[in-house]
Amino acid sequence: MGKSTNIVWHEQSILKEDRRKQNGHNSFVLWFTGLSGSGKSTLANALAARLYHESVRNYVLDGDNIRHGLNKDLGFSDEDRTENIRRIGEVAKLFVDSGQVVLTAFISPFKADRELVRNLLEDKEFIEVYVKCPIETCEERDPKGLYQKARQGVIKEFTGISSPYEEPENPEIIVESHLNSIEESVEKIISYLKEHQLI
Ligand code: ADX
Repeated sequence: MGKSTNIVWHEQSILKEDRRKQNGHNSFVLWFTGLSGSGKSTLANALAARLYHESVRNYVLDGDNIRHGLNKDLGFSDEDRTENIRRIGEVAKLFVDSGQVVLTAFISPFKADRELVRNLLEDKEFIEVYVKCPIETCEERDPKGLYQKARQGVIKEFTGISSPYEEPENPEIIVESHLNSIEESVEKIISYLKEHQLI
């Protein structure tokens, strides 16, 4: 139960279905999860460009950017990560309601948090994409130098080093960024979306 009382839900005049019809495609969340440096944002952005060129209305939400604004009050404790994902889930739901495809790129290390978002949405609106990559490879890439800092103990609670990552058990899609190119992974996801008549 939230803190606000005396709040009544206001029905909208234009419904999700109307917006979908106007856009000519379904609306849903592509939820990218994986270690830091696994390639979530890169892949989400490549896919966003591809969808854009196919006239699929979409938007990318990613951890590093959202943590500069909406979630700048949150750190990396378990509780803050849970709140981070809860808020993103609610924002993602609004995008789905607006008839758009939303691509989210957050580590989202906890299974329960990802399930919470799945349960916020309707059937087939949450597509979990596990960007699988061995931690050794992520650490080698270390695009932001964060793994090095985590190993030195400068950054505490770093995912995969000093904070857990719970692998998805049954994701809709798995892409392996150490084995497949970005283009191949984009194709795999596009094929899934077309096969399931989502776009
Ligand atoms: S999440 O765990 O709450 O889902 P989120 O995806 O928003 O994390 O943010 C992860 C990004 O924050 C990483 O890509 C990395 O650039 C940066 N970061 C800074 N500190 C940490 C940390 N302790 N653990 C993981 N990522 C961190």
